[in-house]
Amino acid sequence: MKINQIYKTDCLSGFAKIGDESVDLIFTDPPYFQNRAKDVKGLKNHKDVVTEFKFDGYASEEEYLQFLEKVLRECYRVAKLGASGYLWCGDDFVSYINRIVSKVGFQFRKVIHWHKTNPFPAIYTRKMFANSMELLVHFSKGTPKTWNHKPVNEMHNFIESPICMGKERKKHETQKPLKVCIPFIEISSNAGDLILDPFMGSGTTAIAALITNRNFTGFEIDEKYCTIINQRFNEFLLQNKDFNGKRPTID
Ligand SMILES: C[S@@+](CC[C@H](N)C(=O)[O-])C[C@H]1O[C@@H](n2cnc3c(N)ncnc32)[C@H](O)[C@@H]1O
Repeated sequence: MKINQIYKTDCLSGFAKIGDESVDLIFTDPPYFQNRAKDVKGLKNHKDVVTEFKFDGYASEEEYLQFLEKVLRECYRVAKLGASGYLWCGDDFVSYINRIVSKVGFQFRKVIHWHKTNPFPAIYTRKMFANSMELLVHFSKGTPKTWNHKPVNEMHNFIESPICMGKERKKHETQKPLKVCIPFIEISSNAGDLILDPFMGSGTTAIAALITNRNFTGFEIDEKYCTIINQRFNEFLLQNKDFNGKRPTID
């Protein structure tokens, strides 16, 4: 495994590159299996209100959960004792994910709630509240070794922020804002630590690692998102000419 390198590959095969107990922190955002929303196709204009991303294409809930279990088992293998893990998910799968996390050996710790202050509005015909929350499951391999406590009012399991906008926004449908991710990375890792993200997407975890002087490794299966990651690396290097860490690469 090379430090500060993202591999263009399926994470399940890519994990072979990562040694046992070599990672200080896992921070990841897997597919959410949004295809379950197919049953609302009868709705007028359903395309406007239902998110069906290509990377969410699993045949069934069972297949999706089995996939997550394989990924989390590998995360457990590569995590150092005392490493924390953070995994984004929606409210519909959070209880399954908490159980899988424990099944593979991690300790479940807390669910963190991100309130998106500018969500897609509720559509009257759907008779549902707006989807303004995303959840971040915190777990650990044993008791967390690193816990960089912030001021007490920043240690709540609730964070409020708009979705990615402006220059930070890239062409990735589920890009997470750096502002939401960085506090958890700072709390659960130290400068120089290695962070793993098996589902890099637009590379948010990698950029957050560079900004906070951590190292990263990870995977992204889709070539078009790898191009975005490369653009973000170039932007970071342009804006940080004095960067003296290991230069980020994608291959
Ligand atoms: C929810 S998105 C991550 C978004 C990311 N947090 C960001 O801020 O840009 C999940 C990503 O995982 C990728 N992906 C899906 N299955 C994968 C697999 N088996 N191995 C590696 N990447 C995969 C998808 O292409 C997608 O970009």
